Formats: sequence, structure tokens, C-alpha cells
Amino acid sequence: MASLYLRPQHLVGSRVLSASLLNRNGAAAAFNSAALRNVASLHSASATPIRWSSSRLPLTNPIIPACRFLTTPTSPVLLPNATPSAKPDTSGAELEAWISDPAQYVVSVRFPDGAVTAFDSIWLRDHCRCPACFHQVTKQRLLDTCSIPADIKPTQMVVSADQTKLDISWANDGHVTSYDLAWLRKHSYAPKLQPVEPAGRKRPKLLWDREIAQTIPSVRFDDVMNTEEGLAKWLENTDIYGIGFVDGVPTTPEATEKLARRIAFIRETHYGGFWDVSANMAHGDTAYTAIALPAHTDTTYFTDPIGLQLFHILEHSGGVGGESLYVDAFHVADRLRTSHPWAYDVLSRTRISAHSAGDANTHIKPAHTFPILNHDPATGALYQIRFNNDDRSPLVGLSPADVREFYAALREWTKLMRDPANELWIKLQPGRAAMVDNWRVLHGRASFTGYRRLTGAYINWDDFRSRVRTVLDKEDV
Ligand SMILES: [Fe+2]
Ligand SMILES: [Zn+2]
Repeated sequence: MASLYLRPQHLVGSRVLSASLLNRNGAAAAFNSAALRNVASLHSASATPIRWSSSRLPLTNPIIPACRFLTTPTSPVLLPNATPSAKPDTSGAELEAWISDPAQYVVSVRFPDGAVTAFDSIWLRDHCRCPACFHQVTKQRLLDTCSIPADIKPTQMVVSADQTKLDISWANDGHVTSYDLAWLRKHSYAPKLQPVEPAGRKRPKLLWDREIAQTIPSVRFDDVMNTEEGLAKWLENTDIYGIGFVDGVPTTPEATEKLARRIAFIRETHYGGFWDVSANMAHGDTAYTAIALPAHTDTTYFTDPIGLQLFHILEHSGGVGGESLYVDAFHVADRLRTSHPWAYDVLSRTRISAHSAGDANTHIKPAHTFPILNHDPATGALYQIRFNNDDRSPLVGLSPADVREFYAALREWTKLMRDPANELWIKLQPGRAAMVDNWRVLHGRASFTGYRRLTGAYINWDDFRSRVRTVLDKEDV
């Protein structure tokens, strides 16, 4: 029998607003609070009998305050002798911790602003950050999670006088865990007190059309290369706009490569590492021709498409054309969601494949199919665009109705993408480099004549985000 359990996703106080049922394979089904009130509906929603997990059921019950722990570090309260007290006064501005579910030893914490959240004891013990349980340098867990007794419970909880720490002593071995309250709040889950940041984002994206694009800021090469502030500004621009310009770049491959490596190491692919492209068909890809390229993202054929792409045209002589095209695909998606919600839905769920097979020894395909619009499964937020109509593989596995729906949705997407109001056309001059978020901004180019030398590099999305966290956000785990 498959073992299913209820995992609360959103709780207010002790009330479960929504939950997922997961089986061993991780397949999930979501239920809202109305459905949760009726256990029978859960049974009927799954062909497999459901075994309720007793450790989770009490979360749906009202809070039963048993013990109250105040901000008095000099007089810690011992659980076995504690007298049950009323639920702490919600009007108080003090930080408090108490056992809200004595049966399961769920610890509730009230923050000075009145926000209350709950933690399971096993979760708290598992997240001990002391040097014995967590390596202070490598930031890796040293504790064997399975060594924690399933019925672990606190014997004592003390909030520090300055209200920044909560110390919990554990019944099984007397180990003491000291929690930073800001850390606890950041990682709270029942309910989550800080919004989940889609795909690790700290700052909102500023969506742009052609008009707004004229104001996308630029940074100077020397500032980026020689100052932490310059690098931070470049990262911030790239994060906010999905495109970060750098001016004053020496028109050499060496300087351009150094610029790319200022963010992270270069991702090597079948095109090589740092690339130096002209219309010479060095690889079997239209990028190595002089024909126009419609707006697209690169490497849709990879399971993990490249995150950033640097463009720097070192020379264009003896001809015309070759203007660069950029489109904020998150803006296009936003417009599509408003004007044709059905098309947005189709492009969010129709799974398609892509390939790169232009070189004799290359035949790349992703591990599985992906839609054009990809959403964070936890938050539902759009986080990645995968769109290259030229690299799209044969459409398979769809019903005739789904096929027709896909082409109709693709038509609406393309119309919005090609709306001149959404297109930023720039004649990139030597000395101006553009770093583009390939998970968000589409790029293309006009056909050209003459000799056009384009240099650049790929950088992984995870490595870009790592730099944003360390240079800009100074974010700890
Ligand atoms: Fe491209
Ligand atoms: Zn510890």
C-alpha cells in the first residue's frame, strides 16, 4: 500500500488552509481547507487508501497552550513542572515561546510584532546550528538526523533578555540548541512569516517594453573590474532588468573574457568556452551565419539552460545591418496572461522538446520535456522562459486538440513578442557589452553584410545567483 501523508503547506495559527498529499514517488495532490474538513473527500480523491499520519493531525486542532515561556533568562521554566497557562496575550510586544501542542511538542513562537508561528520539535532539533551539529565553515549538517528520537521534546526554553535568541534544552540527551530568532522567522513554515522568494529572488524584476528599455542603466568597465560597488551595480542591473550593459570595454577578446569571469567561471559547451563568432559556419548553428535570428533564448535543448550570456561585438566592417534585438519575455508573458489567459495556460503546460544536432558529433536533447513558460512548483511564480522556435523538436505525445491549442497559443505569444512596442533594437557598438539573463530576456539579430565579429560567453544561472547572494545580498544559509 502506498504510504500517503498530509503535509500542511499553509497554516494560519493551527488552521490548515491547504495541504498536499504525497506518495512515495513524490506525486502530489493539493487540497484546500474545505476539502480538508472532509476526510472522506481525501479518500475519494485518491484511489489509494490513506493512512493518516498521527504526527500531523494535531496541527488541524485548535492551539492548546500548556506552558508559557517568557523573556526571563534568569528563571527558565522546566517543562515537567510547568503549569498550563492561557495562550499568551496577543497584544504584548514581547517575544515568547511556548508548547502549543503538548501531545506533539509543537513549539510556538510569538515575535515582537505579534506574528505567531509553530515548529515541530524534530524540525527544531534537526536544525541545530551549534558547532557539533553544523559545520561552522562549510555550512553543512554534521548531525545524523535519524539519531533524533521521533518523540523528541524540549525540557526547557529560554528567550534571551535582548529577545534575539531562543535556547532549547532537549529531553533525550540534554543537548542545548540556541536559535537566532531572525533565522527562525526567516525559515518559519507554519505559517511561513516571510514570503517565499521565487527562485531565490530578493528584489523585484522591473518588466520593460521598448520605452522603458531606453532607461536601462549601464556601468563602466573599469568600475566593474576594479571595485566591488561596480560589480554589485552590474549584478543588480542584470537582476532587475534581465540585461546589464557595460561601457568602456576594451575591444579585445581578452578583456571581454575577463569581464565575463568577473561574475563567474564560463560554462563550456559544444561551442567551446569563451566564443568568438563570425559568419564562418564554424559550428552547425545559424548563429554562425549572417541571416536574421528571431527572438529566442539559448540552449533550450539543455536540461539546465545557460543562465547568462555576454555579448560584445568587437567589429562590424564593410557592411550594414546586424542590429541586436532584445525582448523582455517576462513582460510578454505578463501581457499574454492578461490578454489571452488560455494561451498562457497552454504554454505553461504543453511540454515540448528541443535539440542541437548541427555538428557531426553532437545530438543534445533535454532529460525530459519542458513548457515554454516554467513556474516554481512551490510558489507558482514564473521563473524561466525556454523559447527557441528554431530549435524545437517534433511535437509528440499530444492529442489532436492539444496540438491545435498549442499552435493557437504559440501564435498569440509570437504576436506579442513581435509587437514593436516590446522590441528593443540596438546597434551594439564595440566597447559596449550586454549581459543578458537567458532565463528571461530573448535575444535576436537583424541580418547583416560585411564582417561582424561577436564575442561572448555563457554562465550558469546558479553561479550568477550565487554571486548575487554573496556580493549583493550578503545572504547566509
Ligand atoms: Fe542565441
Ligand atoms: Zn547542536
